[in-house]
Amino acid sequence: MIYYFSGTGNSLLVGRRLSERLGEQLCPMTAPMPTADDAIGLVFPVYAWGIPNIVEGFVRDFLKAFPQMDSAFLYAVMTCGDDMGYADRVLEAALGRKLDAAFSVQMPNVYVCLPGFDVDSKEVSSEKLSRVEGRTSEIAGKVRKREAARQLVRGRFAWLKTYVLRPLFNRSLLTDKYFNVDASLCTSCGKCRKACPVGNIKMSDGSPKWQSHCAGCLACYHACPHHAINFGRMTQKKGQFIYNLTIYYLLFIYDLTI
Ligand SMILES: Cc1cc2nc3c(=O)[nH]c(=O)nc-3n(C[C@H](O)[C@H](O)[C@H](O)COP(=O)(O)O)c2cc1C
Repeated sequence: MIYYFSGTGNSLLVGRRLSERLGEQLCPMTAPMPTADDAIGLVFPVYAWGIPNIVEGFVRDFLKAFPQMDSAFLYAVMTCGDDMGYADRVLEAALGRKLDAAFSVQMPNVYVCLPGFDVDSKEVSSEKLSRVEGRTSEIAGKVRKREAARQLVRGRFAWLKTYVLRPLFNRSLLTDKYFNVDASLCTSCGKCRKACPVGNIKMSDGSPKWQSHCAGCLACYHACPHHAINFGRMTQKKGQFIYNLTIYYLLFIYDLTI
């Protein structure tokens, strides 16, 4: 079984490719089903050099109750724009056990809410996406052989990022209270509501309203066809990653046959 969380589609793409290659079922962490499999995969994005709160909740409230938790081959595949810090160790702390294998996969960056952070150029996005087939094939090979692999891009100052910056980030920036809508651009299409993986957006008087249980994934920001949604004022001039992607990936996001 492969459990996944994905805000904007990257981890879903990686999860689907792994599920096809391994012949394993793919199940969202937001609606998890139990499994008796002896191999359990976790696929999700890196947030602030750690793991999304939703993944932490899934591990704590659901996964830890599995009878085979100590004996299963447990592996994590973490997608990130650049580097993941010690996200694997944050996950292991939540799990209360070591991972048997852990991988990071570089994917198009979607984080845009701080100065200096923006989506990748079209060229960089396409280059990262062109590596997905090879990378997922490599990971699937290692999982099939139950190899104790660690292929992780931690980046520079990994400890500082995970254990100093991440708590600050979670305390001050992991919130939906800064989202705002430019009423002159919003067409009330509701794509933001549909894109939200945790049902945190309600439409009221034709405008999105965030309900304070945000996963922080920025799916709403990226899904808006008119760039009407912003996070404070920081994102007004930032890109939306969806416009940088190849047709192949767009077809995938909209779940058309590829
Ligand atoms: C809140 C947030 C924090 C992020 N933090 C990191 C990070 O620490 N390092 C990194 O390389 N990418 C970071 N990213 C980028 C995502 O990890 C990356 O784009 C990922 O593939 C998105 O996956 P998804 O499309 O499945 O949601 C962050 C994205 C978000 C939304």
